[in-house]
Amino acid sequence: TKKTSMERYRPALHFSADKHWINDPNGLVFYKGEYHLFYQYHPHSTIWGPMHWGHAISKNLVTWEELPIALYPDELGAIFSGSAVVDWNNTSGLQTGEEAVMVAIFTHHGEDNEKQSIAYSNDRGRTWVKYEGNPVVSNPDLKDFRDPKVFWHEETSKWIMSLACGDHIRFYRSHNLKDWEYLSSFGEKYGNHGGVWECPDLINLEVEGEQLKKWVLIVSVNPGGPNDGSAIQYFTGDFDGRMFVTDQCESEEKWADWGRDFYAAVTWSGTEQPIWIGWMNNWQYANQTPTAEFRGSMSIPRSLSLENKEGVHTLIQTPILSDEMRSNTIFDRQNGSFESLTVKVPEQPFMVELKLNNLSSFDILLKGEGGNLRVEFDGASQEVRVDRTKSGLVEFSEHFASVDAMPLKSFQDALLLVDKASVELFVNGGRSVMTESFYPTGSINTLEFKSSLNEPVEYKQIGVQSFSL
Ligand code: FRU
Repeated sequence: TKKTSMERYRPALHFSADKHWINDPNGLVFYKGEYHLFYQYHPHSTIWGPMHWGHAISKNLVTWEELPIALYPDELGAIFSGSAVVDWNNTSGLQTGEEAVMVAIFTHHGEDNEKQSIAYSNDRGRTWVKYEGNPVVSNPDLKDFRDPKVFWHEETSKWIMSLACGDHIRFYRSHNLKDWEYLSSFGEKYGNHGGVWECPDLINLEVEGEQLKKWVLIVSVNPGGPNDGSAIQYFTGDFDGRMFVTDQCESEEKWADWGRDFYAAVTWSGTEQPIWIGWMNNWQYANQTPTAEFRGSMSIPRSLSLENKEGVHTLIQTPILSDEMRSNTIFDRQNGSFESLTVKVPEQPFMVELKLNNLSSFDILLKGEGGNLRVEFDGASQEVRVDRTKSGLVEFSEHFASVDAMPLKSFQDALLLVDKASVELFVNGGRSVMTESFYPTGSINTLEFKSSLNEPVEYKQIGVQSFSL
């Protein structure tokens, strides 16, 4: 899609709004070949302000068309985060024509409190009407009471809503999306509580190689992330239509993404495979990132599954790279070794694939005139670090110049997706993931693979591909 400004940090593979501020993805729903992406939007500024729902659609999850604003603030408050569903059986009675009705469930953020409301669309998400009986869930005297995520629970034939309530998640259910009954709550004692819990999502995921599925509760937390600031944790367990019970112990923390820039991700409603997308930012510096006409972008959409290894369930994320993205092989070599290996790359976006025999110690340097980003694989301390201290513009926030670490017990493969101002690192088939933004003042033009000990690093494969749309 053509954007009015093609400024330096305008992502090529990632969604950004043509102008102004965005944060969380909202109302993710798939209907008749269109992926809808609504998002927290401030149409008058590049800093956060009274929230609207901006709107974009895509057929392939890569190229997006921006549509008019879907929801505006009103007398009940600003429009905070939430979800959307297609009400195929018209349980809400809000359908007016032939087209199935789409229902958005969102938080009305008023000066005094937060409560949940709904709006509906009878024209494939193009125009929206707020329900006259709003709010549908009033505030039970909680300061934080937001980000409703709704799905249809087959087994009990009910809509289930997950809601973020400060230090826990509450579950509600409904038969018509209008009348909601409180069910249960989860979380005070579990996981990370370095900050407020936000943007929950309760999903049923396939376990690779098994015929069964398992429930996973996604919870964003801000601050409290493993490398500071905003991040997403998850809990594996069971859900019986009333209660979520985790199989984790209280102190265990599971992170969906160890980087500094993956927040508020939730899944699309109505897709065959679960797919999610996150806001590629961190509240620590989101209002200061050095873009001009727009501020904020989304991650690459990622499909989700689970791995079960001796009873420990791990989230697997696979980036969705569509056929429409034309790729060019820049470099491809099998079964070799390097002490230092340099590859010239065209301007971002590009992708690096690496297959190794074991966890060695080496760096991948993304180099350019305007800054270097260093990805350090450390066999001795069994971790990978992203060092963005010399990556270009870093001084816009005291929180930005960081070296961020992710533990790694083994290392088979890595995929790095590099756009104008971001790198997404998927290690071991997407079992360990890190998303980091960076702002080089010139293009990245060289990749360097460099052993950190004085011995060659053996590899099975190194591949580099460029993309165009
Ligand atoms: C998460 C969040 C949500 C809230 C929205 C406001 O980033 O704080 O909890 O609904 O952003 O824009």
